[in-house]
Amino acid sequence: MKEFHIGTQIYFGESALDRLSEIGFDRVIILADPFVVTSGLVKHVTDKLDGAGVSYALFTDIVPDPPVDKVIAGVAEVLKGKYPCMIAVGGGSAIDTAKAVRKFAGQIEPGYAPRLIAIPTTSGTGSEVTSFAVISNPAEDKKYPLCSDDMMPEEAILDEVLVKSVPAAITADTGMDVMTHAIEAYVSTNNNEFSGALAEKAVEICGQFLIRSWADNNDAHARRKMHIAACLAGIAFNSASLGLVHGMAHQLGAHLHIPHGRACALLLPSLIEYNSGITTSSRSQAEYPPCVRKYCNVARILGVSNFNEITTVRALISYVHFLSQEMHMPAHISEATNVSHEEYLALVETMAEGALSDSCTATNPRVPTKAEVVEIYKAIW
Ligand SMILES: NC(=O)c1ccc[n+]([C@@H]2O[C@H](COP(=O)([O-])OP(=O)(O)OC[C@H]3O[C@@H](n4cnc5c(N)ncnc54)[C@H](O)[C@@H]3O)[C@@H](O)[C@H]2O)c1
Ligand SMILES: [Fe+2]
Repeated sequence: MKEFHIGTQIYFGESALDRLSEIGFDRVIILADPFVVTSGLVKHVTDKLDGAGVSYALFTDIVPDPPVDKVIAGVAEVLKGKYPCMIAVGGGSAIDTAKAVRKFAGQIEPGYAPRLIAIPTTSGTGSEVTSFAVISNPAEDKKYPLCSDDMMPEEAILDEVLVKSVPAAITADTGMDVMTHAIEAYVSTNNNEFSGALAEKAVEICGQFLIRSWADNNDAHARRKMHIAACLAGIAFNSASLGLVHGMAHQLGAHLHIPHGRACALLLPSLIEYNSGITTSSRSQAEYPPCVRKYCNVARILGVSNFNEITTVRALISYVHFLSQEMHMPAHISEATNVSHEEYLALVETMAEGALSDSCTATNPRVPTKAEVVEIYKAIW
């Protein structure tokens, strides 16, 4: 038996933040990315709360790739005030912090289960609609995708006014995260018709609007579309899960601190090649692995469908490279890190082991061996 559900109520479109005027609580705690506060972006949220007579506390001790100690600090703060509602405002790091904080606060104080409203300020992770939170342990250079239904936010508010300030490089990183979520969910061994429909729409929006959104912060239409695509892809992978791109990207984040979406972009073309088994020297075959048909669908949606399976999958791989190039993203790991080639090679075995034990890898369409993962890490240097 399969099941599909969307656990989060989604408010979107013009003036979506108006939802905050009617949340029905008189006090809340806002867990916000520090940039959101220093830039004044948070006022879009607090003005609505002020207008509705809701008092609020602020927790801003949040950093990218949230580490365990920041989650512990958040738990202490939330339990101090026993707020009935938490509002997470920021990118995936702020939302993941809030999700983990709520979960652990509820474990320390059984029965304490504040409502969680997620307001993304990047268009990337889809964390506002997923039951995943990625927490890092810097002492061990590890990133852990935690997953449980009680981490899913009850509400998400998608308002593009909050993503206007995202600089081009972060738009590129987070946008490639969306594309990767959609494609990995689409070819996942756990995919289904519901997740597939959402993934296809997310791919279509990325094809139409990612570069436009990257090119112009003030293109509100493109930014709104990408904000919705991030959420659609989030719902898709929450149901279908992800694959080896994410399993491997988490290691690049933990060991080399490469921003998550950038790590995905560096890996995605190699993983399409690996999963499909289609290389530059491939010849037409009588049969292909099932993921090839899926990759061909993705290529068709992106308008790069070609003569046959081989040329179409190659065109999709080229298209992913093209997206990265257009948005001035690094083409190789060597351009994305300060570590030397020798230092990188010394990490490859450990990263391959981490990728194989990462929960995202379990639904990859091809079961990888350690030697194969090592080769892929080496090839993307
Ligand atoms: N929970 C999930 O389902 C899920 C899925 C994928 C990734 N993740 C995790 O999410 C994290 C990445 O999240 P992210 O890509 O959204 O980045 P992020 O939250 O780490 O933010 C990246 C940078 O963007 C800045 N920023 C955020 N909003 C901004 C705005 N409106 N204007 C200007 N700058 C802004 C932040 O201050 C930060 O410096 C990683 O830890 C990743 O592993 C979680
Ligand atoms: Fe991701």
